[in-house]
Amino acid sequence: MTADLSVRIGSLTLKNPIIAASGCFGYGVEYADVVDLSSLGAIVSKGLFLREREGHPAPRIVETPAGMLNAIGLQGIGVHRFVEEKLPELRARGATVIVNVCGTTLDEYVEVSRILSDAEGVAALELNISCPNIKEGGIQFGCSLHGTSDVVSAVRKVTMLPVIPKLTPNVTDVASFARAAEDAGADAVSLVNTFLAMVIDVESRRPKISNVVGGLSGPAIRPIAVRMVYECREAVKIPILGMGGIADARDALEFIIAGANAVQVGTANFVDPFIWPKLIGGIDGYLARHDVARVADMVGTVDTGAKDKAWTSS
Ligand SMILES: Cc1cc2nc3c(=O)[nH]c(=O)nc-3n(C[C@H](O)[C@H](O)[C@H](O)COP(=O)(O)O)c2cc1C
Repeated sequence: MTADLSVRIGSLTLKNPIIAASGCFGYGVEYADVVDLSSLGAIVSKGLFLREREGHPAPRIVETPAGMLNAIGLQGIGVHRFVEEKLPELRARGATVIVNVCGTTLDEYVEVSRILSDAEGVAALELNISCPNIKEGGIQFGCSLHGTSDVVSAVRKVTMLPVIPKLTPNVTDVASFARAAEDAGADAVSLVNTFLAMVIDVESRRPKISNVVGGLSGPAIRPIAVRMVYECREAVKIPILGMGGIADARDALEFIIAGANAVQVGTANFVDPFIWPKLIGGIDGYLARHDVARVADMVGTVDTGAKDKAWTSS
């Protein structure tokens, strides 16, 4: 039996639930010779502002136990160059392209979204209101319920594309942010972005990255991210794109069972750029073994027993 791996994200149908996460897959074209881009559910571009950005000085990345810390500072080529230089090849390669939209102001989110909506070959907009590594804009919107709502509703007004705000885990109650996004007209939510963290070299007593603090990703964050997806699934009806430390098909299924309609994979691509067919094949194999016809039937099927038990930690 070959299962139906397709999933719906608003008006968009993805051929499978496996998506390359923003910032961990370049603009997609860099991987085109090693990964069949058309075989993925979608790819998410590196975050794009209106203009080019240099990002932070090196060192910007350091390994941590079961993860990595980064503070790239959203280096990028800007939306115009992306549309001119990258989109045509992505289109030619048959990729489903979700663009990660950044802004230092509300107007910038709107302007970048407008430009992308007029371009040919953009499937959806992921609004990055959660990058922990920039001082202005971004996470300041994502850490405020009003800010989240303002960005989503402003972008909603200027695009027909699915609008997918990407939520930060650096808040106490992530579900309330998912709800604010849904109420403001989001078609789906992505979660999680990285967790604010710090690594110090004890010999020099200096932080190991130039920005002092950065965002933690990789398997170390997975159980927290799964819990957050579960909480958001309880809170909203719109689709969830779950991520955080997925390194194999079982990890991906964990997110789906917790309530994610699709999953994104970031850090694991740095470890194994050939991971993609293994993830897709692994999900297919699991569905066959469990006699499940459609991956969509797995979403949110976690069996927590008595509901009040799920919320007790000890
Ligand atoms: C080096 C690096 C760069 C990233 N850049 C972005 C970005 O531009 N926009 C964004 O929304 N998330 C960015 N992220 C966050 C990832 O998309 C993802 O949310 C996070 O890493 C958790 O998933 P993972 O554990 O599978 O990597 C970046 C992560 C890393 C490690």
